[in-house]
Amino acid sequence: MAEKLKGVILAGGKGTRLLPATRAMNKHLIPILNRPMILYPLETLRDVFGITDILIVSGGEHIGGFADFLGDGKEHKVSLTYRVQSEAGGIAQALALAEDFAAGQPLVVILGDNIFDNAILKKSLKKVPRGKGDAAVFLCEVPDASRFGVPTFDKKGNITKITEKPAQPASHYAITGLYLYPADVFEKIRRIKPSARGELEITDVNDAYVKSGKCRHCILDGFWSDAGTPSSLARTVAWAMDGLEPRA
Ligand code: G1P
Repeated sequence: MAEKLKGVILAGGKGTRLLPATRAMNKHLIPILNRPMILYPLETLRDVFGITDILIVSGGEHIGGFADFLGDGKEHKVSLTYRVQSEAGGIAQALALAEDFAAGQPLVVILGDNIFDNAILKKSLKKVPRGKGDAAVFLCEVPDASRFGVPTFDKKGNITKITEKPAQPASHYAITGLYLYPADVFEKIRRIKPSARGELEITDVNDAYVKSGKCRHCILDGFWSDAGTPSSLARTVAWAMDGLEPRA
């Protein structure tokens, strides 16, 4: 059977860093100007990867909001499936719920609050020499990497380790919330253990690919934001405004 990429948007979590807005609505429906945040990852999957078959995973209290807004996806030229994550067990636990949906196909997974410059991402993608069975992660240079998954590099620039939110980051790079996985990702998830905060961390899944020599990476130089804090949300809005036509 030919490989056909499928897409997963992970849109769970409580959005505590954006309280009290997230008491009124789900984080991923907060507008960036006039466009709810979730449209950005959806368009990344569709426009950068050409994916139209997309699963949205979120908590039970929020799934209705997404379904009300996006419906079956037709308006956005995609086909949407929804899945409820009933316990908050981490990003990798949410991804585990996509196993049936993936049906043995490779996946592109994106976090619902991750916003990329799609044109630049598309160009960068061509620079990832990915073999069959390889995963890929996308890196961005950031002023404070300790908020993110952080790679350690060897002298040749290969990633030797990925650490989640390290107090002393080994590099100035964040692993962004966009991941390419081969079909064995669910095996990898089954093998990882919950972290100290009791979650199945996506970083541990990525680190497992690093340890087996199957994690490719690409450094992005365009705009990227994890719009989950007030300041990064403000930065994202400012970036979106730059894209507006100058007022006539
Ligand atoms: C998550 C991941 C982290 C990654 C980040 C990117 O963190 O755990 O590895 O760097 O997304 O947005 P969170 O934003 O859930 O704290």
